[in-house]
Amino acid sequence: GIAFLDGQYLPMSQAKVSVLDWGFLHSDATYDTVHVWNGRFFRLDLHLDRFFRGLEKLRMTIPFDRDDVADILHNCVALSGHRAAYVEMLCTRGASPSFSRDPRQAINRFMAFAVPFGSVANAEQLQRGLRVAISDKVRIPPASVDPSIKNYHWLDLVRGLYDAYDRGAETALILDFNGNVAEGPGFNVFRVKDGKLSTPAIGVLPGITRRTVFDLCAEEGLVAVAADVSVAALKAADEVFVTSTAGGIMPVTEIDGAPIADGKVGSVTSRLMALYWQKHD
Ligand code: PDD
Repeated sequence: GIAFLDGQYLPMSQAKVSVLDWGFLHSDATYDTVHVWNGRFFRLDLHLDRFFRGLEKLRMTIPFDRDDVADILHNCVALSGHRAAYVEMLCTRGASPSFSRDPRQAINRFMAFAVPFGSVANAEQLQRGLRVAISDKVRIPPASVDPSIKNYHWLDLVRGLYDAYDRGAETALILDFNGNVAEGPGFNVFRVKDGKLSTPAIGVLPGITRRTVFDLCAEEGLVAVAADVSVAALKAADEVFVTSTAGGIMPVTEIDGAPIADGKVGSVTSRLMALYWQKHD
């Protein structure tokens, strides 16, 4: 992989930041990831929108505009030589001089990198569906109040993952403050019931893949809504799938050790998966 740091393109192994950076010390950072497939970026504009919105909300400034950032990302991919890449742009508060507690003193730090594409689900899991456990951990929306700021805060999600591993599952879903299903480590979740789709509305990152599913549903004449999804409703679904830049649309066929419907990847999920990858051509 290749990183961009302090105006230079570097091999990943040389891209290092100070332990005093507030991104590390306080999770005071925002980021966005976008994927490259067959050498082409997928919905880069939407990822840049979200990233620049996050910067504004966090009052961070970088010496680059949208076009500059797009150029940097393209350069990282070109230099890395990867045709399928996972590309990240990020900005941390930076390190404050003399250990000041005033974030205004810090010089914000923009970085980017391109590494080989890594999916939430491997090829076998995409075929048979993921085995998921629902953890009782509660998603604290990043930046405490605004889940639309994409932030590295994952304590709740990582604890949920360990709950899932302890129970023999492959990944986790965690809850919102009301005990409904929220999201998982790096993905949103959809329920299909009687041909209708629903996905949690609150306490989740408004994912760009999630939005792409809404776009696909509109094109295909399928009804999709953002609304509370209870644990019971998810388990009683006809089909369940999760969505992420890291893997697209990925089927779930088992929750807490019990199959979803007949335990096979459903027809709506398969159709949306095919359409999703067609959008990349
Ligand atoms: N994560 N929820 C969380 C907590 C996420 O971190 C992500 C993405 C998503 C899905 O959003 P999108 O469809 O825009 O990728 C939902 C990125 C891929 C990551 O883990 O780096």
